[in-house]
Amino acid sequence: MKKIIMLLQEKMEKAFFECGYNEKYAKIIVSNRPDLCEFQCDGALAAAKEYKKAPFLIADEVVGKCKNCEEFEKIEVVKPGFINIIVSNDFLVNYCNEIINNEKFGCEMDKEKTVVIDYGGPNVAKPLHVGHLRPAIIGESIKRIHKFFDNKVIGDVHLGDWGLQMGLVIEEMKVRHPEWCYFDENYQGEYPTEVPFTVSDLEEIYPCASAKTKTNENSTEDEVKKANEFKENARLNTSYLQQGKKGYYDLWKKIVEISIADLKKNYKKLDVDFDLWLGESDSQKYVEEMVKKMQSMGILYESDGAMVVDVQEPEDSAPINPCMVLKTGGVSCYQTTDLATIMQREKDFSPDEIIYVVDKRQDLHFVQVFRCARRAKLIKDTSKLTFLGFGTMNGKDGKPFKTRNGGVMRLESLIKEVKQKIYNKIKETKDVSDEDTENISDIVSLAALKYADLSNQIAKDYIFDIDKFTSFEGNTGPYILYTAVRIKSILRKYYENNDEIKNKDIQAPREDIEKKILITIAKYNEILEDTYNNNAPHILCAYLYELANLFNVFYQKVRILQGDKKTIQSNIVLLTLIKDIFENGTELLGFKIPDKM
Ligand code: ARG
Repeated sequence: MKKIIMLLQEKMEKAFFECGYNEKYAKIIVSNRPDLCEFQCDGALAAAKEYKKAPFLIADEVVGKCKNCEEFEKIEVVKPGFINIIVSNDFLVNYCNEIINNEKFGCEMDKEKTVVIDYGGPNVAKPLHVGHLRPAIIGESIKRIHKFFDNKVIGDVHLGDWGLQMGLVIEEMKVRHPEWCYFDENYQGEYPTEVPFTVSDLEEIYPCASAKTKTNENSTEDEVKKANEFKENARLNTSYLQQGKKGYYDLWKKIVEISIADLKKNYKKLDVDFDLWLGESDSQKYVEEMVKKMQSMGILYESDGAMVVDVQEPEDSAPINPCMVLKTGGVSCYQTTDLATIMQREKDFSPDEIIYVVDKRQDLHFVQVFRCARRAKLIKDTSKLTFLGFGTMNGKDGKPFKTRNGGVMRLESLIKEVKQKIYNKIKETKDVSDEDTENISDIVSLAALKYADLSNQIAKDYIFDIDKFTSFEGNTGPYILYTAVRIKSILRKYYENNDEIKNKDIQAPREDIEKKILITIAKYNEILEDTYNNNAPHILCAYLYELANLFNVFYQKVRILQGDKKTIQSNIVLLTLIKDIFENGTELLGFKIPDKM
């Protein structure tokens, strides 16, 4: 469907043209003085310069041509030359009624694209912590938005399972359990099917191993030596692993298996899921071919033992280091796996776009990887590589969010804490069974978490303030849900005593607030397209908040279930449409609306 603003603009363009002015001046925007009008056109002011005529005169001529347009209830010029517009009820109501019959709210679909979305990015053997919240929440929403626009979308978790952290974990296991068959060079049998450690063991092992590599200015010579030895062993383990060495590879497989099972459980709690559970390691089989390709193109060269590709471009204002394709000794590093994964994705899906939802501090890494991938032609020239870098989630002190005693907070604990808050709130105010409260708080706490994140621009840091975003008032997830639940309960009440409404038409608005709601509904398609085109869920959040506010005013003013039958039916059709928008919007953001709350 054409956007409502475009329909108005087309009329305005015709008027400008008929008066002999360039149509480019006919741009219509939503009014920035809603007390005076609904839409406006400021083009006469700019046109005045080109045509050397007073803006007021130009606007007056143009408005003269619009007097009989059925779209406009009122169109007038105000000094010095603004054109203020109030749309007609008929036009508005027809537009909204058309939306009711359009399953995509009148959004235009793009031509179908294949899009791989790389999000989540957890690391094997390390527990999920709050830092993993943003890529999961944002990625899930971006995925849903792209699906809504009919793209073929593949969400890939891209596990960190191939780097030095694996060598570290293996080293620590070796120190603790030298007797394990995995470390016995002469072991001939099958490796046991049961796993000799649990997730909790893993979660304790990695930090312990990592601490063993750290030294400071007070460390003795002996301590430094020990740390370096540990690190060197870990490096060796990593390279054995990457070469597929027996025992090491088998142990690693167990670590990955245990981790994935646990990760799946945790992502499920967040209502986040992935089509692919691939990791960095899955790209290893492409590394050799990739390196050969780069060599044959003559772009790969040795530098300090590593193999690199230049990625500097003439227009760069600062020098950019070459992209490291292999570390010393042919070991794969973070860049290797990302490059080889591009190759893998190209082979498997030939995507039109790959979107990376990753911490914005990894910006430089992706500049290097993308440029290197392009130089090496690992992906079609026409395919887009998009880095969607997100900002940091900070605590109230403006520093990265920590637990009360300063540690990194586990994602599980955070979810629990939010849920508890919501649980208490519901229990305080409502007489609901424990079980219902349990279920409702699951849904509402996810909404609180996700909305708090998504209502901010992705690239910006934001302050994670539990009290604020679990509030049932203000610009929060619970407030949006509360409003939607209110609508659902009115609809339920109506349908207790009434049949399905056959004639799904909204009547002309009788109240100002009703007209405002209709105008807001009419622009939902534009909001969705903006959200999609800019990968910007915060646009959708702001819209839902605006709609919720308007609805709550309407609810105070209008007796929805009172009046003549036609009026009530029209109210119900309107409420159903608002509910559909809330359901669609929250679904795209990644959460649900409960039946009661
Ligand atoms: N595992 C990485 C990390 O913890 C994030 C992975 C992001 N995705 C990617 N393709 N590099 O930093």
